[in-house]
Amino acid sequence: MMLTVSNLSICTKRTKEVLVHSVSFSVGNGETLGLIGESGSGKSMTSKCIMKLLNPRLFDQTGSIQWNGREMLTVKMSELRDYRGRQISMIPQNPMTAFAPMLKLGKQVEMGFSLKGQTEKMAFRKRFAAALADVNLPDARKILGSYPHELSGGTLQRVMIALTLLQRPKLIIADEITTAVDAASEYLILNELEKLKKSGVSMIVVTHDFGVAAKICDRVAVMKNGEIIETGKTKDVFTKPQHEYTRQLVQASVLFQEGLC
Ligand SMILES: Nc1ncnc2c1ncn2[C@@H]1O[C@H](COP(=O)(O)OP(=O)(O)OP(=O)(O)O)[C@@H](O)[C@H]1O
Ligand SMILES: [Mg+2]
Repeated sequence: MMLTVSNLSICTKRTKEVLVHSVSFSVGNGETLGLIGESGSGKSMTSKCIMKLLNPRLFDQTGSIQWNGREMLTVKMSELRDYRGRQISMIPQNPMTAFAPMLKLGKQVEMGFSLKGQTEKMAFRKRFAAALADVNLPDARKILGSYPHELSGGTLQRVMIALTLLQRPKLIIADEITTAVDAASEYLILNELEKLKKSGVSMIVVTHDFGVAAKICDRVAVMKNGEIIETGKTKDVFTKPQHEYTRQLVQASVLFQEGLC
């Protein structure tokens, strides 16, 4: 197993509210796990915790997150360089927060990739332009010359997806990446995810959309009120849900019905 999350709990330090309660799941090499469930059920919190993005001064985080046998929940921030980005990369639900507001995108992307010299920069721009075109953003020059606030949430999210494609991490956590975009872009993004899957990248796909989950996830874990209530192969969970809540979710998902039934 690549990633093994065991009994992970997250609670606010100030109010002691339990946001995620004893969650366990794993993601194997080349596997795509869907994290599904209603709004507020703890999907993003779990994802951010795996990415070590939750401030330990605000949140108590207990349990275990093992990455290829190494415990990450207690690892020092100084040891995270390689883990975030090269090993695991997250495409966040709110992409605006992922960019610095005062810098043009081209500048911050170049800084993020620590590019030096004109040749390296030119080669990178070419690869980045191709990755942007793959997610339906053909005008790379305009995007690189823009500040984050000049672009829509859906566009910024696709820029994040393009950057992730370039980084080639071993595990990608995609948090609701098809929610803020139009149907054509959704189609292209799903295609990119499928390509990644074929190339052997592992993924955690967080989504409300059962059609998306049915299309690309090998297994799904259903979250409710901070807990995983059901987990299994996607087809089994969707066709023979064990939990009443899952059954209701499946029934409510028209897209899923259209896609599979
Ligand atoms: N910074 C925060 N401080 C305290 N509580 C928070 C914070 N962010 C989220 N929460 C709470 O944690 C719980 C889980 O939120 P989370 O964002 O993980 O839900 P989600 O499943 O991703 O929902 P959605 O599908 O709407 O994105 C919710 O009750 C939410 O109100
Ligand atoms: Mg969320």
